Amino acid sequence: MEIVVVMMVVLMINGGALGAAPRKAIDVPFGRNYAPTWAFDHIKYFNGGSQIQLLLDKYTGTGFQSKGSYLFGHFSMNIKLVAGDSAGTVTAFYLSSQNSEHDEIDFEFLGNRTGQPYILQTNVFTGGKGDREQRIYLWFDPTKDFHRYSVLWNLYQIVFFVDDIPIRVFKNCKDLGVKFPFNQAMKMYSSLWNADDWATRGGLEKTDWSKAPFVASYKGFHIDGCEASVEAKFCATQGKRWWDQKEFQDLDAFQFRRLRWVRSKFTIYNYCKDRVRYPAIPPECSRDRDLF
Ligand SMILES: *[C@@H]1O[C@H](CO)[C@@H](O)[C@H](O)[C@H]1NC(C)=O
Repeated sequence: MEIVVVMMVVLMINGGALGAAPRKAIDVPFGRNYAPTWAFDHIKYFNGGSQIQLLLDKYTGTGFQSKGSYLFGHFSMNIKLVAGDSAGTVTAFYLSSQNSEHDEIDFEFLGNRTGQPYILQTNVFTGGKGDREQRIYLWFDPTKDFHRYSVLWNLYQIVFFVDDIPIRVFKNCKDLGVKFPFNQAMKMYSSLWNADDWATRGGLEKTDWSKAPFVASYKGFHIDGCEASVEAKFCATQGKRWWDQKEFQDLDAFQFRRLRWVRSKFTIYNYCKDRVRYPAIPPECSRDRDLF
């Protein structure tokens, strides 16, 4: 009886919806969670590492990675992308496992000529299989201010957020024969590099090295995940962490409405709708509501 009353109150407060925004990210200095991977001299630190800059010039780009490996959690980064002429440059922020049949969750920001819009490309690899690109324009200029880009990953779904607006969801479709990342720990990576063979207008626009160095700024190095390197056994025990709870197992109606808004207004490309490449609709697409 008491339980029923409590449940009714919860449903009333929630309006019956189950979803919720991930826990608020906590900003920590770079060195808490990350270390440089290559070209150490192309990373600059400010305010004790609470903010950093990655530099790309004609000699090299640079990148960094998380110290720990994680199985599930919430990962986010505040990024201000290369301003001005960024054509040919790519800034990436992704989770990846290390072995050959790898899992990967990608944000890639493709630069452009001054005044032309960036493209945000996302992709999901599971068991070594990718080819699930989606491309959108952003509804703001990502070079003017910092914006928060984040990933929620649990056993039920992977959600990509831009400033807490879901821009993509990849549901666990194991029952439909689609692999889902659940047993390989991943590290977070980020890098800035030259990709003028494909990035901007399919490689037509080349990097203008007279504009170098190209600079991307980062802060808010939040990671709230289960650190598999130290807690592998614990991570395997599902159900205990906040991201396992009911309200994070699916998007709620409000989040789906925002996702639909992003898709309808800003989509450039969605593999789910590419009937040339995929004559048969990939099984996850309908569950991810990518066909509407
Ligand atoms: C760059 O700008 C052109 C022209 O507006 C646009 O077609 C293209 O999608 C933009 N982005 C990239 C990364 O090519």
